[in-house]
Amino acid sequence: MSELLIEGGTVVTADRMGPGDVFVRDGCIAAVGPDVRTAAGRDARVIDASGHWVMPGGIDTHTHLRHPIDRLGITTADDFYTGTVAGACGGVTTIVDFSLQRRGESLLHARDRRLAEIEPDAVIDYSFHTIVTDVRDDVLAEMPVMIDDGFPSFKVYMTYGDKIVNDAGLLRMLEITGEHGGLVYVHCENDCAVNHLIERHLAAGKTGPAYHAPSRPPAVEAEATHRAIMLAGLAGSPLCIAHVTSSGAARHVADARERGKPVAAETCPQYLVLDDSVYDPDGGFEVAKFVCSPPMRAAEHREVLWEALAEGSIQQVSSDHAPFHYENQKTTGRDNFTRIPNGLPGIETRLPLVFTGGVTAGRLSPQRFVEVTATNPARIFGMYPRKGTLEVGADADLIVVDPDAEVEIDAARMHSAVDYNPYQGLRVRGFPTWTLSRGEMIVERGEPMPPRGRGRLARRGRIDPAALP
Ligand code: URP
Ligand code: ZN
Ligand code: ZN
Repeated sequence: MSELLIEGGTVVTADRMGPGDVFVRDGCIAAVGPDVRTAAGRDARVIDASGHWVMPGGIDTHTHLRHPIDRLGITTADDFYTGTVAGACGGVTTIVDFSLQRRGESLLHARDRRLAEIEPDAVIDYSFHTIVTDVRDDVLAEMPVMIDDGFPSFKVYMTYGDKIVNDAGLLRMLEITGEHGGLVYVHCENDCAVNHLIERHLAAGKTGPAYHAPSRPPAVEAEATHRAIMLAGLAGSPLCIAHVTSSGAARHVADARERGKPVAAETCPQYLVLDDSVYDPDGGFEVAKFVCSPPMRAAEHREVLWEALAEGSIQQVSSDHAPFHYENQKTTGRDNFTRIPNGLPGIETRLPLVFTGGVTAGRLSPQRFVEVTATNPARIFGMYPRKGTLEVGADADLIVVDPDAEVEIDAARMHSAVDYNPYQGLRVRGFPTWTLSRGEMIVERGEPMPPRGRGRLARRGRIDPAALP
């Protein structure tokens, strides 16, 4: 029996904040409150958390580790070891990554292929959404099997040439998830409009990285978001919108929720912290470091997203960690921005960026910070209450954070394998002093110490549309 007592801190969960101790036994939360010391045996390890906040570990439900981009013949810069170590150092204790169904492949085969890639390396607990790219009758028939097996969420790309699912395919998938307790999680951009705008820019000789953003303006996101919501309504199914970046898309989500539709949405730190000034046409090829889809928006969208996050129409922040080295990966698109791999690193900085822009800046309460980074991701994707909370019986996945400690983000000190950081030089609060996964100390004062492969598969439950936050 292993016992751990985290004493003297301030316990913060989605619904309360106050002084308290946390007692952990055999990897689970055994007691929370004042005077829990009496429950602990003499051999219990004690952590002095005075001056610190004790919170559920972050859950990042949108990461792309060891993720292949077939059309460019490359893979994201982090594998499941470097990526999950980076996550642990940034306070993440569970990820939901992706398994990519190749054309012609079965979902179960894609699942097994992905598990074999993750199991030997992950240091924190994990699951994945299944990216469906080939909507066939036999594939649709596999979806309930995947849901039963603990993988209830399915990613759909409404754009991206080799992965795109058309509206008929999306509708058919929604019918299945609605009936069987699954959830479609959708990347919303109007593919025809994006392709048209790309062709226009290239034809005008506008091939540099700055032209990525005007090829994917807010309207293409808003239109596809609205369409996805309408199709989900037609099927009577819940829906989760990936990476909301703009006021128009956020408005469609809020309208649907006001009409009582089971629609959930995430945004990401890059859309809360950065804006489209990163796409300076005179900025040279380094602008490629910020090429992601959807792109960053004009500054006024940022405040709309923070407000939506604070008032509840956006319920979670995930990273969309899709790291590509600047050298030899981003540079593939030197002569044509469409050949720049899309994505930014973010698993390690997600919690500090939301903590700093949210809690330190007074936009989010500490409880709401926990809710949008841990509790709601667990609720939306079928992991609650085993993950995302400090209730008795939950996995003892937690972080201990000094809310006043400031750190300057520096790529050289990050644990991701990628060769740059989009937030270089930014001063942030919210990095954990300690990260614990199932009661095991995996990061101590910024130093990672988890054995490779210690992470476990977190099988997830069915999604109850009525229980979506
Ligand atoms: O640019 C991004 N976000 N790349 C990752 C793939 C995706 O859109 O989810
Ligand atoms: Zn996406
Ligand atoms: Zn993504």
